[in-house]
Amino acid sequence: MRLEQFPASIRDYLIAKPGGDLGYDCLGCGARHKADRLLYTCPDCAGLLNLTDALDGALSNKSGDFWRSLFDYRQMLNLEPLKGVFLFHEFLAPSIPLQDILYLGEGRTPVVEAPEALAEEIGAHFYIKLEGLNPSASFKDRGMAAALSYLNFLVRTQNLTSVMAVCASTGDTSAAAALYSSALGTAVKSAVLLPKGRVTAQQLSQPLGAGATVFELPGVFDDCMKVVEKLSDDYQVALLNSKNPWRVLGQESYAFETAQRFDYDLSHKVLFVPVGNAGNITAILSGLLKFYRHKVIEKLPKIVAVQSERANPVFLYYNSPKPRTYSPVTVKPSVAQAAMIGDPVSFPRLAKLVDQYEKICPHSSFFALEVKEQDIIDCMLLANRRGFTVCTQGGECLAALKLALAQGLVGPKERAVLNSTAHALKFSNFQNAYFEDFLKEEYAITAKPYLVNRPKALELKNCPKPSGQRPLNPQESEQFVQISAQEIASTLGLKAKGSGRIS
Ligand code: F0G
Repeated sequence: MRLEQFPASIRDYLIAKPGGDLGYDCLGCGARHKADRLLYTCPDCAGLLNLTDALDGALSNKSGDFWRSLFDYRQMLNLEPLKGVFLFHEFLAPSIPLQDILYLGEGRTPVVEAPEALAEEIGAHFYIKLEGLNPSASFKDRGMAAALSYLNFLVRTQNLTSVMAVCASTGDTSAAAALYSSALGTAVKSAVLLPKGRVTAQQLSQPLGAGATVFELPGVFDDCMKVVEKLSDDYQVALLNSKNPWRVLGQESYAFETAQRFDYDLSHKVLFVPVGNAGNITAILSGLLKFYRHKVIEKLPKIVAVQSERANPVFLYYNSPKPRTYSPVTVKPSVAQAAMIGDPVSFPRLAKLVDQYEKICPHSSFFALEVKEQDIIDCMLLANRRGFTVCTQGGECLAALKLALAQGLVGPKERAVLNSTAHALKFSNFQNAYFEDFLKEEYAITAKPYLVNRPKALELKNCPKPSGQRPLNPQESEQFVQISAQEIASTLGLKAKGSGRIS
């Protein structure tokens, strides 16, 4: 829609102007640092940082109605930088000028209601937000859009010519980091640290394809994270893990979009979020609290944090008696491999936000559930059998929904919104291994025959077969087609035409 076609009351605000006063707040010592450079930890005490806007209060000078209609109208504005997560520019990273915003098609992913057949099987109507439809096929693109837009701003304003962006990853962060870095041309190069053998072939192909330098390290994600933290402490690099608070800002858009999808009414909604390094759930809680503070939403939804029982530090923390103490866990192999993290870097941020959340909604507003490996993969395959392609982390959410329904955590009037954080194809190796029943030993998973599927070979006896070397002659070809069609029809139980009604 062209600018002059928007209502006059909204027109002046549609094209966001740089504003706000962003700064880094230390969770440890409370110091505030200017956001004129990239920081990951507090220069005074090495504490974790949050990015906040000192002028945030001014957002409340406008009514909730104003923001709601601005964001709704802005969806119709054809202006590239505001097409993705920066649709919510004022609430996200208002200091970044539009000219520096990097947009590769991320965000605005669909929230789809589960087909009736799946809802019946699970025992409730629910929705899934399909985050696998982002450019690098996971939600990480939201955070990278913000982090790399900020880096782009620094490159332009500080004439930086050779930035080395680094991250540790279970796969998806590296895919997104490499892709978004590559979009900035020669100014930014990327290097990623992956736990050898704990990233799928599809995920590994992503940073390689985008030209990153890929290091495979022994151990698990937590070991890679320690190495990358050391790199960012001692060398000039741009850390792109969610320890980088710009990432968190971008990922808040998930919360904003979910609110918008339900016309800003999140009462009776329950958001299920798989948790690994705890960056995503931190961002979602932070985004929801921002929208709540400025009256864009009036009710906060219930939140369910989901972990596999093989990588469950957040579950253990929230299910232990108060006063709670946090302890990292040693992870075991999990099919929800992208979230296989024993010591989430963002845990201190999460704990603080949950406290804030529970102060506003004292009763039953935040839960942590753990799910079994068998249920994770069965749910992923079941969803696929009923119209959804969800990743193994999406499978975790679906397994958790079943558990929550059984425990009465989700009531009949509530609707769950599951976060399928990545595309199923990234994890098709687990599907293949399940179909071959190869997950018994390492994952204690047994294939359920009704979920197994394999390609069928045709037994073409006494039949000429096409081969790469020699084309079939017309007579052979006719024979091949005839016999193949007969075999397929017999396997499928097809009735010949003219033999009665199609049933
Ligand atoms: N789902 C997927 C597909 C992920 O890739 C991750 C994390 C999570 C869920 C958990 O999100 O870490 O924000 O709590 N993957 C990271 C990575 C850590 O390196 O790609 P989180």
